[in-house]
Amino acid sequence: MEGVQNGKCGNFADRWSLVGATALVTGGTKGIGFCIIEELAGFGAAVHTCSRNEAELNKCLQEWKKKNFKVTGTVCDVSSPADRERLMEEVKTVFDGKLNILVNNAGTGYPKPVTQCTPGDYKFMTTTNVESAFAMCQLAHPLLKASGRGSIVFNSSISGIMALEFLSIYGITKGALNQLARSLACEWAKDNIRVNSVAPGAVDTPLMKPAFENKEFVTRESHNVPLGRLGKSSAKKMMADGENAAGRWSLLGAAALVTGGTKGIGHGIVEELARLGAAVHTCSRNEADLNKCLRKWEAEGFKVTGSVCDVSSPVEREKLMEIVRSTFDGKLNILVCNAGTGFMAVDYLSVYGASKGALNQLTRSLACEWAGDNIRTNCVAPGTIRTPLTEHGLQNDDFVKKETHRIPLGRVGDPEEVAALVAFLCLPASRYINGQVICADGGRTVNGNI
Ligand SMILES: NC(=O)c1ccc[n+]([C@@H]2O[C@H](COP(=O)([O-])OP(=O)(O)OC[C@H]3O[C@@H](n4cnc5c(N)ncnc54)[C@H](OP(=O)(O)O)[C@@H]3O)[C@@H](O)[C@H]2O)c1
Repeated sequence: MEGVQNGKCGNFADRWSLVGATALVTGGTKGIGFCIIEELAGFGAAVHTCSRNEAELNKCLQEWKKKNFKVTGTVCDVSSPADRERLMEEVKTVFDGKLNILVNNAGTGYPKPVTQCTPGDYKFMTTTNVESAFAMCQLAHPLLKASGRGSIVFNSSISGIMALEFLSIYGITKGALNQLARSLACEWAKDNIRVNSVAPGAVDTPLMKPAFENKEFVTRESHNVPLGRLGKSSAKKMMADGENAAGRWSLLGAAALVTGGTKGIGHGIVEELARLGAAVHTCSRNEADLNKCLRKWEAEGFKVTGSVCDVSSPVEREKLMEIVRSTFDGKLNILVCNAGTGFMAVDYLSVYGASKGALNQLTRSLACEWAGDNIRTNCVAPGTIRTPLTEHGLQNDDFVKKETHRIPLGRVGDPEEVAALVAFLCLPASRYINGQVICADGGRTVNGNI
């Protein structure tokens, strides 16, 4: 799609498509990597992958061909410098020197108490997980830059954020990837390469087979997860559970309440959820503004209703929820309370910051308290986004210069860029994401440069 090629994602179709994009996913024949390929190819990307086992690779390539996915592959051990170079040469040829996406997924690990770890254990895990990912980034940089719109994703682990029993070496490698993501996000933003890291908890994959065969582990670990279950990676298993790609990325049949939906980010969220198929109710204090928006949404065929409500008034909140209850027959899938940033000490925003910090913590508390009712709670933390709220500040050239200088991507954000993240967190596709605060800020909160 045009958006992938020209770097724009201003319209809905471009935001939710990878048609025209090229991707390299390491370790794609099993587990999480296999599912990443299916997801990217399902969105229209041409994908190249690698694994050490030729027979398994060929089997997967045939399977993808039958599904009409554009996937090619190379036999490669990412821990070998020579193999990595050969892989990148092939990627260069297959994709004509341009790569939009690099997913550093291949990785390995096993539990061992520190006192029993050998230099061999250390070398094996650090070489496969960190050295390879670092080198893959270096090799891919010219291709990512040449594409004009690059994205690197590391497959880290929660063991890189918290201590997990006997996973010290594995944890070191994953912590390293998380930090590498922050460094590269700042260093390569000027080349329009975004860098992020995902940190899965325990997921049922071939890597985790021994652990998942241990009933005691599964019971104990599931007990530690508020949602009460471990992660799934097998596409077959998901199908068996009645899931399919179209369902994971659709909100058809969902009912949503978005507070403050007539302007800025809230307006973007209403439109994103409605385009994904949700029925949305929104509110604003200004009746004229609300009616204008409702008329526009009706003309566009969106299912959006609205009420005049000041959410700071307890009486009006109760009234709003009564209307929502009758509109949606007593059932609500999505509640979006419009939130802003609360991560950094911004000049003169201490009270605002405190209020947003409170929301970040409320997210974690509710994520634990209500997971048992199958309610996930997450929070988005935008940086400076161009909306009516920030319009005044953004007319001040000094402010804009100071702000953009601190943002690695070198620009303020658009409401749609936050709305798409909110929509993702509401989609079934994100159903294992719970209790997270995710920044949409061009990398401002990880930038330690002056
Ligand atoms: N499963 C979890 O619970 C979990 C949790 C957090 C993070 N992760 C991370 O997610 C990533 C994928 O894990 P997974 O559970 O999906 O693992 P998996 O089931 O073992 O699959 C790993 C994939 O990577 C390939 N691979 C492994 N080592 C490789 C190497 N040196 N060079 C090239 N390809 C290699 C494997 O194929 P070959 O063996 O044929 O090479 C396979 O396709 C890893 O980085 C892992 O650390 C997993």
